[in-house]
Amino acid sequence: MTAHVTVDVDLGERSYPIYIGEDLLGKQALIAPHIKGRQVCIVSNEVVAPLYLDKLKAQLTGYELSEFILPDGEAEKTLDNVAHLYDSLLNLRFDRNATLIALGGGVVGDMTGFAAATYMRGVNFIQVPTTLLAQVDSSVGGKTGVNRPLGKNMVGAFYQPQCVLADTATLDTLPDRELSAGLAEVIKYGLINNPEFYHWLQDKMPALLARDRQALKQAVQASCEEKAAIVAADEKESGIRAILNLGHTFGHAIETATGYGSWLHGEAVATGMLMAADLSWRMGMLPVETVSGLRQLLETAGLPVIPPDSIDVEQYLSLMSRDKKASQGEIRFILLESLGKAIITADVDSGLLKQTLAARGALGKLAPHAG
Ligand code: NAD
Ligand code: GLY
Repeated sequence: MTAHVTVDVDLGERSYPIYIGEDLLGKQALIAPHIKGRQVCIVSNEVVAPLYLDKLKAQLTGYELSEFILPDGEAEKTLDNVAHLYDSLLNLRFDRNATLIALGGGVVGDMTGFAAATYMRGVNFIQVPTTLLAQVDSSVGGKTGVNRPLGKNMVGAFYQPQCVLADTATLDTLPDRELSAGLAEVIKYGLINNPEFYHWLQDKMPALLARDRQALKQAVQASCEEKAAIVAADEKESGIRAILNLGHTFGHAIETATGYGSWLHGEAVATGMLMAADLSWRMGMLPVETVSGLRQLLETAGLPVIPPDSIDVEQYLSLMSRDKKASQGEIRFILLESLGKAIITADVDSGLLKQTLAARGALGKLAPHAG
């Protein structure tokens, strides 16, 4: 086993460490100082709990320990399930000094974080992410919440954890499709802010897909460093943090229109990033080679690059106008001025946008035309 690394999220009195390394799950020394009080509830789901719950529990001796196991899947990211968790905690007489530990992917982490933000007006919370996507993105930065039928993550709170424990050995059991979904968010960091990392990913993609532990650890660390810096600069997304949503305006529309779960979040983000790159090209910012290079990298990573047939242009526009970044119906886009430089703009030609939305398999392939 190699030593772990620590990436700090610098948020003044709400600062916290992200511990990254192999076999950290059982390391009580890392997690114990972040547990306040004696009452601890581990929240997990029916897939992750049989794999990792006992290992985590074995290290939490001396606490009044309970567990809450959710059904699996994006469709379960609901207020109803959060309410069941509140009721379970109330039955157990958990008080304000309780700690909730999220053991699982982004769905478990987002819901547990929202429950922690709201139970008794806020209790301590720790993230133990077990998917690549959760290790590189959702467990860091304090966005918590649930879906509603009309939109992804439409109800939630900013609420930072006490610490994040990213045990990269848990990625061994992750299905290939989920690994690829996580790689979409990893690629995002290169695209928005770090061209060297993007080129490293182009080089290392076969190793990452083969689950080379060192390569995965490096990818998680680099991603967390990128995210931590952006979150530290703009915790509540009043500005720069919005660039972390590259591809999400298109992607959330795909997830909402297709029903939560048929497209994985990372898959929708991957196709959404290609749509954002296509639009950036049509607007004259990005060379077409960058768009085709991105398509190739996403395909190599096992990610979809063609939006679903079932969504037409009008439906995209309607769903995208409900995006949380939209203001008074005006959609704000995250686009690429160049590889490694994202911009936030509402100034998008509607004709070019419609070309992107209609392009489907021809993203980055058919030359843009005016009107
Ligand atoms: P997920 O939580 O649904 O996990 C994916 C699948 O992998 C699930 O079936 C899960 O049970 C299973 N799983 C988890 N860990 C496993 C392991 N180690 N071995 C085997 N199976 C395992 O999905 P996700 O991709 O982790 O997260 C997606 C969610 O995260 C979405 O709801 C998205 O909106 C949210 N998200 C939030 C943020 C944020 O900033 N809060 C950022 C990105 C995404
Ligand atoms: N995943 C986007 C954010 O955390 O801001």
